[in-house]
Amino acid sequence: MSEAGASRILIFDSGVGGLSVAACVHEAMPHVSMVYLADNAAFPYGDQPESVVIERCCSLIARALEQYPCDAIVIACNTASTVALPHLRAMTEVPVVGVVPAVKPAAAQTLNHCIGLLATPATVRRPYIDQLVGEFAADCQVERVGHPGLVQWAEGLVRGVPVPQAELDLAVVELRDAGVDTVVLGCTHYPLLLDNLKRSLPGVKFWMDSGEAIARRVAWLLAQVHLSVNVGEHDMSCTPVVAALFSGSAPEGIAGFMTGLALQPHAITGNWLGKS
Ligand code: DGL
Repeated sequence: MSEAGASRILIFDSGVGGLSVAACVHEAMPHVSMVYLADNAAFPYGDQPESVVIERCCSLIARALEQYPCDAIVIACNTASTVALPHLRAMTEVPVVGVVPAVKPAAAQTLNHCIGLLATPATVRRPYIDQLVGEFAADCQVERVGHPGLVQWAEGLVRGVPVPQAELDLAVVELRDAGVDTVVLGCTHYPLLLDNLKRSLPGVKFWMDSGEAIARRVAWLLAQVHLSVNVGEHDMSCTPVVAALFSGSAPEGIAGFMTGLALQPHAITGNWLGKS
């Protein structure tokens, strides 16, 4: 536990995508403090062999927990969640929450039974997507698009680089042509692109991400161990992120970007492995 009575959560991603999840956690539990850890030295995880993703997740998270003991860990990365969760759960007693593309709620929401699944090329290929679709969306047409550009465009937003709208329009053209009324954002970077995605796909009625479901799960877990999600002795709500740790350089513009998401960081550390 971080401060007397207050909880602290470690949020992990390969880059800045996990900030979309951190924003949902903060909105649901404004007095819970967070440590944000990004393995941006190895970004994107979709290009890494599974064994590398597993090894990096485990070693970085173990080191972060030594420095910042936490009450729960959120793997705010679909790519890492698909391969690393069992290894992380074997490594630590701290509860680990992973992210799963919101196929089930999308199937419950769609009106025309035509769903788009937008994810990284690595995630759309994973067999667990077949399982999710078979289990929860067997009565739907599910169009999958795995595109390498979207995570890069989301990372560019931090540096103030505008999203190339025409390229994004082209990236999701299959979803437009299929007439999907619901899109699953199967990568935590994508909620950061939502305004642009809405411009590309104006016909879509429902946008499904996993952030709110993760926040509910974390609140439930903390309640199980009787940890407070309310204000502790030290109110961290002014700087909800006690530390933002980057394995590579801290992205230019990150402080302002996080503040724009109501995630003001107390401290930012780039090349954290060399400094921890
Ligand atoms: N935010 C990660 C995810 O949800 C990005 C993927 C990557 O690093 O390849 O999958």
